[in-house]
Amino acid sequence: MAVIQTEKRKGLTGSVRVPGDKSISHRAVMFGAIAKGTTRVEGFLPGADCLSTIECFRRMGVTIHTHSPTSLQVEGQGWDGLREPGSFLDVGNSGTTIRLMLGILTGRPFWSTVIGDESIARRPMDRVVKPLRQMGARVDGRRDGKFTPLGVRGGNLQGIRFESPVASAQVKSCLLLAGLQAAGTTTIAEPSLSRDHTERMLRAFGVELQREGYAVSVQGGQSLVAQEVRVPGDISSAAFIMAAALLVPDSKVTIRDVGLNPTRTGIIDALQAMGARLEVEEKGEWCGEPVGDITVRSSELQSTEIGGDLIPRLIDEIPILAVIASQAEGTTVIKDAAELKVKETNRIAVTAQELRKLGARVEETDDGLIIHGPSPLTGGECDSHGDHRIGMAMAIAGLIADRGCKVHRAEAIDVSFPGFEALLQQL
Ligand code: S3P
Repeated sequence: MAVIQTEKRKGLTGSVRVPGDKSISHRAVMFGAIAKGTTRVEGFLPGADCLSTIECFRRMGVTIHTHSPTSLQVEGQGWDGLREPGSFLDVGNSGTTIRLMLGILTGRPFWSTVIGDESIARRPMDRVVKPLRQMGARVDGRRDGKFTPLGVRGGNLQGIRFESPVASAQVKSCLLLAGLQAAGTTTIAEPSLSRDHTERMLRAFGVELQREGYAVSVQGGQSLVAQEVRVPGDISSAAFIMAAALLVPDSKVTIRDVGLNPTRTGIIDALQAMGARLEVEEKGEWCGEPVGDITVRSSELQSTEIGGDLIPRLIDEIPILAVIASQAEGTTVIKDAAELKVKETNRIAVTAQELRKLGARVEETDDGLIIHGPSPLTGGECDSHGDHRIGMAMAIAGLIADRGCKVHRAEAIDVSFPGFEALLQQL
C-alpha cells in the first residue's frame, strides 16, 4: 500500500498542465469503439479508470493501439464490430465505465458479465438498470440487479421517456447510448443539467440530438463516424492545484489547457464567490469543449453557501472545497449533495472524518457538510479509504498543516491523477 507525505510549504509558483479529462477520455474510447473508422485520441488520461475502459473494449474485440500513455488509436468497426466477450468485463473502480458501457451492452446481441472492485459492488446500478429494463433490456444481477456482478443479454430495445430523479451524467449517457440502438426516440429529462460531454462528443461523431431545457432526445438507428479527439486537462484535477495555490502563502500558479465546459466550472464560480484571486483565460475549443488557462494566487477567503443547480457543476470537487472552506472566514454550508454518499466512498462521511483528523471543524449533514473556518490545521495521518479524491484532498491539506499529512492507501490517486505527487514537488 502506497503512502504519500506532504509538508507545510510556502511560495508555490509555476505553470503546469494536469492530466487529461477523465470523463472525456472514457467517452473517446467508447465512442471510438462503436464508430466506423479510426479515432485518434491525444491527451488521453492514462489513469486506472480509463485503462479499465480500454481493457473492457479490447475484450469485446476492439483493436486499441497505445502509441504512448496519452496517445491512442481506436479502430472502430461500428456497433456490429463489438463481439461477445469470452470472459468478464472488469470495470475496476470506475462508475463511468460500468454505467455508460451498460447502455452499449444492452443493445448488442450477445451475453456479457460485468464486475468491478469492492467500491463498485456497493454503488447503485439500479439507477440505470431500471430505465434500461423499461426499454426492454434483459439485465440481472445481485439484489435484483441493483449491484454487481451484472449479466446482460442484449438486444431489442424500445425508446422511452425517462424522468431521472437525479442529475447524473452517467445515467443520461447510459440511456443515450441505449437509445441510439433502440426503436424510436429516447428522451432523458433531469432535475438540473449534469455534465454534457456525451452530448458534445456524440455530435462531433455525427449523431443528431435534440435538447429542450434539461431534457435531451435521440433517435435510434444512428451510427457514429470516427474523429480526432484532443482531450483538455481535467478541471477536477486542476481543482487540487488551484486549492494548493490559494491556501499556501505567496503562491501563484497557472494551469494550462484546462477544460472549461460550463457544466464543470462550478468550482471556479464557488471560489470566486469566496473571494479567490483567480483568473480564467479562454483560448478556444477542442472537439466542442472550451479550453483555457487558469491562474490562481494565494487569497484571503470568506465562507459561502453551495447548493441547488451548482452542485452537479462541482460534484467531484466537494472534498477539496471542504479543505478550502476550512481556511475561509465564517461558516460554509454545502447542501443538496446527497449524491456524494454514492460516489467511490460516502464522501460526506469520509471527508468529515478525515478532515477532523487534521484539526478542521466539520459537521456532517444529511445532504452535505458544514465547515467552520478558519481553523489552523495540525496535520497528522489520513486514509484515502481507496478514494482518489479523498487522498488528494488530504495531501493538499498537508501543505498548510503544521505537521504535514501522511496519506495512507495513496495508490488510489492513480485512478484520475497519475503523477500527482511529482507535480506538487515541481511547484
Ligand atoms: C461522470 C459523472 C459524474 C461524476 C463522475 C464522472 C461522468 O457522476 O461524479 O466522476 O463521466 O459521466 P454522476 O453522473 O453519477 O453524477
